Amino acid sequence: MKDVEAERSGQAAASDDGIVRLSGISMRLGASQVLSDIDLTLQRGRVTALLGPSGCGKTTLLRIVAGLLEPDAGQVLLRGRTVADGAKGHFVPPEDRALAMVFQDYALWPHMTVAANVGFPLEMQRQPAARRAAMVGEALDRVGLSAFADRRPADLSGGQQQRVAIARAVVSKPDLVLFDEPLSNLDRELRETMVDEIAGLVSDLGLSALYVTHDQAEAFSLADEVAVMRQGRIEQLAPPEELLAAPATPHVAEFLRIGAVLPVMPGPDGWHLSGGPRLVPTTALAHASQVLIPARAVRVTPPGAGRLDACVIRTLFRGDAHLATLDLPGGHRMQLPIPNRLPPGARIGLDFDDVALRWF
Ligand SMILES: Nc1ncnc2c1ncn2[C@@H]1O[C@H](COP(=O)(O)OP(=O)(O)O)[C@@H](O)[C@H]1O
Ligand SMILES: [Mg+2]
Repeated sequence: MKDVEAERSGQAAASDDGIVRLSGISMRLGASQVLSDIDLTLQRGRVTALLGPSGCGKTTLLRIVAGLLEPDAGQVLLRGRTVADGAKGHFVPPEDRALAMVFQDYALWPHMTVAANVGFPLEMQRQPAARRAAMVGEALDRVGLSAFADRRPADLSGGQQQRVAIARAVVSKPDLVLFDEPLSNLDRELRETMVDEIAGLVSDLGLSALYVTHDQAEAFSLADEVAVMRQGRIEQLAPPEELLAAPATPHVAEFLRIGAVLPVMPGPDGWHLSGGPRLVPTTALAHASQVLIPARAVRVTPPGAGRLDACVIRTLFRGDAHLATLDLPGGHRMQLPIPNRLPPGARIGLDFDDVALRWF
């Protein structure tokens, strides 16, 4: 795999530096500071997701990597080569960055056939017609659309249109593909199928990918590493399992809905949930202001028999459990899967072991 990748980019020596390296990227758009001092390295052959709420700067960062936007400050290195330097005003345009992009709205040309859409990047590269036809055929085959080559995009479903866009992205065998919320316009069932297809394609082709999404499930199923973004900054970059086990900030814990993040106060005998029980950190803590009680560490007890009392606000049936939204002391909320449906207003107790807590 590594040899193929090195050969494809002709950059074996630079691979230590990652295929994409961002350092100190900042960007202002209009009156708002959209990105602040972003550092990020994408390793060759890996998928990195940018995950965060709408408006946190994901698309802006992706467009900076693509060369569709020039950063105010910071550097973009692709395959070890500087393609943007905010301070020096150095800027390599998108067509010279040897990467492909897949957009949320497919961005297909409506007047062109499926085959012509997919073949367009090859035409730009002035590939001979026979070679173009063979490569288009191969790309359409990969996404299961060989039979649709002569159709127009408007005659296809949303999922099929996005498959065409994906075929177009991989047709010239780039080593780096950028995805910007490619599945957000599709319904949930199709999204799950296509996450699977994209994962297969990425691994078959040994692609490196930067995958923007606001959807945690999508990011976690596809990405080797996930950068959780908030207000133009990366809060944490880690593999999905690590994000869940060890969220670096209260915001990461809250965005990923890992559990309840509650304020803690020091007391003469240690730390307390405000208005609640005493908590014992596993190691001595000089400072703390909040604590995460992970939902997976919580056991439901009869009211009064646990360490915290909670009141059910509502439950949603989720196939294997009822996801309860709970009201906790101090007006805090927590979502917790519980085995039985409970009516709104029901009181329960919550028990947990202090070793499961994370302190901020
Ligand atoms: N051309 C622009 N002028 C001013 N503000 C912009 C412009 N483009 C985006 N923004 C703002 O930058 C922020 C980040 O946008 P974006 O990168 O699209 O976020 P995301 O993709 O995470 O939803 C948003 O608050 C958005 O309103
Ligand atoms: Mg966006």
